[in-house]
Amino acid sequence: MPPWVVSQWLVLVLLNYAGAEPVPRIAFQRGDPSRSINIFSRSDIQHYDRLLLSEDRETLYVGARDNILAFNMKDPGNLRLTGEISWASKRDQIENCKSKARKEGECLNFIRILLHLNATHLYVCGTNAFCPNCTYVDLNTFSLLLNHQNETLAFESKGQSPFDPEHTHTGVMVDGELYTGTMNNFRGNEPIILRSLGPLPPLKTDASLGWLHSDASFAGSFYIQAPDSAGKVYFFFEETGKEFDFFDKVMVSRVARVCKDDVGGDKVLQKKWTTFLKAQLVCNYKQNFPFNVIRHVALLNPEDPQNTVFYGVFNSQWQVGGSSSSAVCSFRLRDIEAAFNGNYKEQNKESSKWTRYTGPVSSPRPGSCSAGKFSDTDLNFMKDHFLMDDKVLPADRQPLLIQQSVSYTRIAMDSVVALSGETYTVMYLGTDRGSVHKVVLVNKGTESHIIEEINLLPNDEPIETLLLESTKKMLYVGSRDGLLQVPLTNCSVYRTCIECVLARDPYCAWSLPSGQCQGVPSAQENGETWLQDIEEGNPNTTCLSPRGRSPRPGHSTDNPPTRVGNVSAAYNSIVELQCPRLSSLATYSWKHWGQSPEKQVVTSAGTLVVTVKRDTLGQYECWANENGSQFLAAQYWIRDLSGVGISHKDSYNRDSNMAIENGVPFSSNEQDYYKPFVAVTVLLALTLCGCVFLALYSWRDQIKAKSKIQGCSTPESEKLAGSKVQEKTPLNGFCQYGREITKPCCVPCRGGGKMDVDNNSINLTANGAAADAASDV
Ligand SMILES: *[C@@H]1O[C@H](CO)[C@@H](O)[C@H](O)[C@H]1NC(C)=O
Ligand SMILES: *[C@@H]1O[C@H](CO)[C@@H](O)[C@H](O)[C@H]1NC(C)=O
Repeated sequence: MPPWVVSQWLVLVLLNYAGAEPVPRIAFQRGDPSRSINIFSRSDIQHYDRLLLSEDRETLYVGARDNILAFNMKDPGNLRLTGEISWASKRDQIENCKSKARKEGECLNFIRILLHLNATHLYVCGTNAFCPNCTYVDLNTFSLLLNHQNETLAFESKGQSPFDPEHTHTGVMVDGELYTGTMNNFRGNEPIILRSLGPLPPLKTDASLGWLHSDASFAGSFYIQAPDSAGKVYFFFEETGKEFDFFDKVMVSRVARVCKDDVGGDKVLQKKWTTFLKAQLVCNYKQNFPFNVIRHVALLNPEDPQNTVFYGVFNSQWQVGGSSSSAVCSFRLRDIEAAFNGNYKEQNKESSKWTRYTGPVSSPRPGSCSAGKFSDTDLNFMKDHFLMDDKVLPADRQPLLIQQSVSYTRIAMDSVVALSGETYTVMYLGTDRGSVHKVVLVNKGTESHIIEEINLLPNDEPIETLLLESTKKMLYVGSRDGLLQVPLTNCSVYRTCIECVLARDPYCAWSLPSGQCQGVPSAQENGETWLQDIEEGNPNTTCLSPRGRSPRPGHSTDNPPTRVGNVSAAYNSIVELQCPRLSSLATYSWKHWGQSPEKQVVTSAGTLVVTVKRDTLGQYECWANENGSQFLAAQYWIRDLSGVGISHKDSYNRDSNMAIENGVPFSSNEQDYYKPFVAVTVLLALTLCGCVFLALYSWRDQIKAKSKIQGCSTPESEKLAGSKVQEKTPLNGFCQYGREITKPCCVPCRGGGKMDVDNNSINLTANGAAADAASDV
């Protein structure tokens, strides 16, 4: 199928998918205090590209441009710099580079390898101004190893680190042997998979036999030691698929395998891999729309080969109208192994078409591990039978997640034991726009629920590095301008049992005794007093079930509105009531005395616009409906200037109305706070009246003059407010408390006991504004 056909399909297929695409349930903006992060940044250090945990997981090593840093992490929530090594390129190297480099700023030392060599040393490599270089870090002194002349010991390291910081790179250390996949030359058209450094013979891919296409781009590498077989190293990359004879070039994603015990050939394939095999990885939606470009890979359960799974993030070569789409696919190790044990492909010399090889296969199979030495015939066979005929399909034949307008760049995995004892897989997906999506896999790992989106970096900065530390429950993010430490969760943003359960965050559960959403206890002996439902996220069967009912009414399942407000307004003025959007999965609706408001307008953002009249006074509520459960998001009272507006209450039977509305009897204790609320509002109304009267009296003349022209929004008041004041304003100097701008014209009332909406709105900032604390990153 030619690519232009694919791109036509793309639109159709993805339009089809649109309804099913999961969205993050809540999103935190940068600097939101509900998702506090620690940041290390220093103006003289940039490109925090490589992260590595010490073996005891107490220290974090960071490879930044021209620097290697060490942070103590004993105290979670505190990034303490404990070691610092400067490792810059030499002046003559920089000068030499400047004559060749394309861009300013490339002639520096970008760290590309930062790995444990042995118990006492790290191995570090950098691009070193287009002259790749490696050295050792002594962990006892946290300094570079020196030679006899007391100079830094450094080796040229072609094939270990790329020349160009833009080129992709992957590497893994196995018993002192370094396995790398990267570009082997300055121009960037000769990729290589190389083993070097240790006592085993150095081996590489053959550049002339076409084992790797010249544009190969690496996404990850892993060492896996199954108990019953030899160790194997897997490389993930994408390259032009030569086996597809389309008009356009088609990119394909691959997994390649080499064996740890490979020692190369004697005469044939000398110093080359004798076990190099590769297979195609498929990440398609509905068999036809291909996410064919692999970006990054993470691994789960490496210690248990039967359950080892690779999770990859994929983009598509064909993007619709410049918008980015991406997918996550998982691949079982045993499916990958089955492909490597299947048929080979071979290229017909005359037609140059690739077909399945159907001839005899010697035993032990060419390319298999632990086979000892292969015969020269077998090695000659390996030279052009390195591509497998079978493709590796994703587990369950489908992507786990598809996003049409998000481009994922990185992935990190965690496993969490939930309250039920079930283990849930959680994916952390970095985007090209500086955010991370936290996703839990439900329904036996086949469905994705995006718990939250955390915006960490400015919009134009992709997430380049993710490292998960599951014991301390921290995610580390390396970026151009800093290092970020992000707690995996903050259960206390979920204020009520309903919110805690709807979140479906396997790290969090509702504690009945404390009436709080908290981290799941590791010991499960008191399982009865905790509530959680990751599979369904259903508050009706948890919080609102008899078990979820707290012995003290109003304690556990009470769901106070996020925002409560009082509005006093003159007749014919316009009032806007905002409904805080806690969850993007909920639908929101307004009620006026429990009925759908008739004539009022609801804006696209969910704001209710009320023209104040005698029959529009009174109680307004914004209800959220999510996953079969309703909860109150906001409650307002509109009254006129004389305090009228509560009188309708008598004709309003709240409880019967509730029962019809949602069939969920969780408002039973509504009255508990309703009485004090009424008392407070009456008091407030009285105070306001007094205030109004005094104000009117003392400024009668000014008001007379001004009210002919305008109300609140005099140019002075706009200046005072420092932000927009709405156009439609009442004609008498009173403001709408449902909006944030109230100060200028309400100044006379300050201190008079006015109920302040700001103070009453409980600040669960789901899509919150908040200070830009992270702005220096
Ligand atoms: C968690 O959220 C609560 C409520 O928004 C906030 O007060 C608290 O500081 C947050 N904690 C962290 C560690 O982010
Ligand atoms: C680790 O490797 C370094 C560099 O090769 C070497 O100097 C050191 O002795 C090694 N340490 C151990 C404990 O093997």
